[in-house]
Amino acid sequence: MSSLLLDNIGELVTNVADSGADGPLGIRRRAAVLVEDGEVAWVGPATDAPAADRRVDADGAAVLPGFVDSHAHLVFAGDRAAEFAARMAGQPYTGGGIRTTVRATRAASDEELRTTVRRLRAEALRQGTTTIEIKSGYGLTVADEARSLRIAAEVTGETTFLGAHVVPAEYADRPDDYVSLVCGPMLTAAVPHARWIDVFCERGAFGADHARAILACGQALGLGVRLHANQLGPGPGVQLGVELGAASVDHCTHLTDVDVDALASTAVDTPSGPETTTVATLLPGAEFSTRSPYPDARRLLDAGVTVALATDCNPGSSYTSSMPFCIALAVREMRMTPAEAVWAATAGGARALRRDDIGVLRPGARADLIVLDAPSHLHLAYRPGVPLIRRVLHNGVPQ
Ligand code: NIG
Ligand code: FE
Repeated sequence: MSSLLLDNIGELVTNVADSGADGPLGIRRRAAVLVEDGEVAWVGPATDAPAADRRVDADGAAVLPGFVDSHAHLVFAGDRAAEFAARMAGQPYTGGGIRTTVRATRAASDEELRTTVRRLRAEALRQGTTTIEIKSGYGLTVADEARSLRIAAEVTGETTFLGAHVVPAEYADRPDDYVSLVCGPMLTAAVPHARWIDVFCERGAFGADHARAILACGQALGLGVRLHANQLGPGPGVQLGVELGAASVDHCTHLTDVDVDALASTAVDTPSGPETTTVATLLPGAEFSTRSPYPDARRLLDAGVTVALATDCNPGSSYTSSMPFCIALAVREMRMTPAEAVWAATAGGARALRRDDIGVLRPGARADLIVLDAPSHLHLAYRPGVPLIRRVLHNGVPQ
């Protein structure tokens, strides 16, 4: 059993509130972390650090749990830079471009898709993302959805079946038949490679009845529920997610008071205080890249709703893999404090994936850590656009 001591940490964000740790981020100063066999084995003052086979000096910098990006669409071909340029010139985003990516994805070889997934996964890791959820949703045939999930599963355990992204062109005049396909053979082919099921519940994609039917089919086969909800306008998605016990409802840009109350009603007491079992995952990269109004994180937080931040990395509405960028947007545009944004990008993402072994630094947690080129987590929002991730340990292994 080999051990590694990450020593001389100026500010350690643990996300664990206990004695010796400050505030909601559970900050410890002048700390050290011992890693053994890919797990955190000990956390404490640097002066008490145990001996280890190897020592890495953090040089007084800030250390955080690796980012948990709980919402990304990495399996696709082509890009939509021209669509982005058109939007910046005033065109609205409608989600209509999804079909462009579906055409390109279907035409791509497995190897092309694999290369893109691995490139984006590596890009995210360099920016501190140690866990990433990856959705299908640009195949929309039985074979193309199954291969998207197979390829995603090569790089993450957090895979999500999104056969109900949009109704593909060939089913445009018979959406009920497409829903039957998704609930039947497509779901059967997806299940061996998926942990979650997701639906784009939105005007122009899937309404409440179709979304409920599809999510219930996935749930019956053991998949966890999450959904794209209330992104482009008000709608039934958030309340449907609460009704089905979804782990997360994602986007949450257009919420009514009833939506916020529904989310707040899922609160339960946990050892770290009250949290909602359905998390609101906010994706500010999408509002940035579609030039849309940002969701109001403050309203959700003040109502007691647990908030996660994720990238939504995809070629249409948010082609960024950068969690630090999302943290900066959340602080500047969504009324989150830097501490709330950092928590949402780490522990919040873990809650959205119903995981307790990540997003947190305590004995037994996965040894996913990032060392910043900065003395404090505040710099993630304070120094936007600056590459502040100096070092990443993933499963205890320096990258
Ligand atoms: O989360 N909203 C639906 N799906 C993606 C967009 C996909 C695309 O435009 O290609 C999203 O924003
Ligand atoms: Fe998305």
